[in-house]
Amino acid sequence: MSDQQTPAGQHAIEADRQHHVHPASSIEAVQQSGPRMINRASGNYIYDTDGRAVLDGTAGLWCVNIGHGRQEMADTLAREALALDYFHNFSGMGNPKTALLSERLTQLAPPRLSRVYFGSSGSDANDTIVKMVWHYNNILGRTQKKKILSRWQAYHGTSISAASLTGLPVFHQWFDLPMPQVLHLSCPHYYRYGQAGESEAAFVDRLVAEAEAVIAREGADTIAAFIGEPIMGAGGVIMPPAGYWPRMQALMRKHDILVIADEVICGYGRTGEWFASPGFGIEADFMATAKGLTSGIFPMSAVFLTEAIHEVLREGSRQLGSFAHGYTYSGHPLGAAVALTNLDIMARENLCQQAAETGAYLHQQLQAAILPLAHVGEIRGKGLLAAVQLVADKDGRTAYAPDAKAALRVNEQVWKLGATLRPLPGVDSIALSPPLTLTRAEVDSVVGMLKQAIVAELGN
Ligand SMILES: Cc1ncc(COP(=O)(O)O)c(C=O)c1O
Repeated sequence: MSDQQTPAGQHAIEADRQHHVHPASSIEAVQQSGPRMINRASGNYIYDTDGRAVLDGTAGLWCVNIGHGRQEMADTLAREALALDYFHNFSGMGNPKTALLSERLTQLAPPRLSRVYFGSSGSDANDTIVKMVWHYNNILGRTQKKKILSRWQAYHGTSISAASLTGLPVFHQWFDLPMPQVLHLSCPHYYRYGQAGESEAAFVDRLVAEAEAVIAREGADTIAAFIGEPIMGAGGVIMPPAGYWPRMQALMRKHDILVIADEVICGYGRTGEWFASPGFGIEADFMATAKGLTSGIFPMSAVFLTEAIHEVLREGSRQLGSFAHGYTYSGHPLGAAVALTNLDIMARENLCQQAAETGAYLHQQLQAAILPLAHVGEIRGKGLLAAVQLVADKDGRTAYAPDAKAALRVNEQVWKLGATLRPLPGVDSIALSPPLTLTRAEVDSVVGMLKQAIVAELGN
């Protein structure tokens, strides 16, 4: 008998239906058909309550970089919970694990990012950065320099400021967002937004000109920062067009606008490097990270900042007495221990390199087996981050009507075949972001399932 059929299994499903409000879900659908329960995970697989193994093609939510069920992580949690389960870092308190983690992280981070602030999620990391940017400009007496530039289709989280930075209308409409301080620039997706006959270079020229025009219109003295994911994740795994980042970076520098790299997905090996920013020509003043920092096993985020910004904040606390921002769980000792073990595993098993190699193989297989299909328009991504663009008509790059639910249908088929991928219905894409421990055989298997699902749902 499967767990689902036992009285305890039935009770759990009923308890969920009656009491659990699911994040980013249709509340109505969960009420009607119940949750899809997962009760075990090991290696690159999750198991549903029927005991069925499902290949985790998304590493949870782009986060379980080292794979599931590691004994070493369990040992770390047990050992450290007995040593120092919790104490705070407010008012100058500290603990060795958090101190050592901050040192280790700054050794791995791109140059200049020499200071780290901890929180519990990607959203709070971005929220912290917005507050630090405002605080920084207030200390410098630049009280008008507060607006933040973001991009349409960006995803930066769902707290009030993070959802405002996010450029997906569903996170704004009906929530009274975005905040007025956030301005969205065009999404840099050449395949979708490049105009007929426009080269990629001309597309970049147009995006940079747009940013210049917005800065001129608003006044550089009112714009504090520009935020971007090196590769946009939830908005469609959108690769920046060639030259886009160096040009945007230079423009922001010219106008004394800080650059914020949101590496919540890209960081910690996903693209084949510890961090993706340097490879794209981004020289961030702030960097947001979370997810792969602990492989999702402990909720933890790390905000990186430069020494120069830190100096200004330090001056502020000289004047004000305190840097008045902090969370109960900032620098949690257990989280820091988990992060250190996670980074040890990544280094020992060379998982960045492995992500680069397996990622190259994954992209090769997607190009060979999936791109030729009649209803696939583009394969995107880098390393173990990828997306497949579904299209109603390949030559015209025509999108499916929203009620066709193409991405959701394909994804449901993949699930039935034995893998979990992530549908991005707003952009008719299917995202892949497996653990960095994925094997080549598993690449073959997931690509095979995806092909079968696309053909079954959309034809070949
Ligand atoms: C790039 C990016 N930034 C921020 C976030 C928000 O992170 P969290 O869900 O931990 O708040 C996400 C989550 O997927 C993300 O992809």
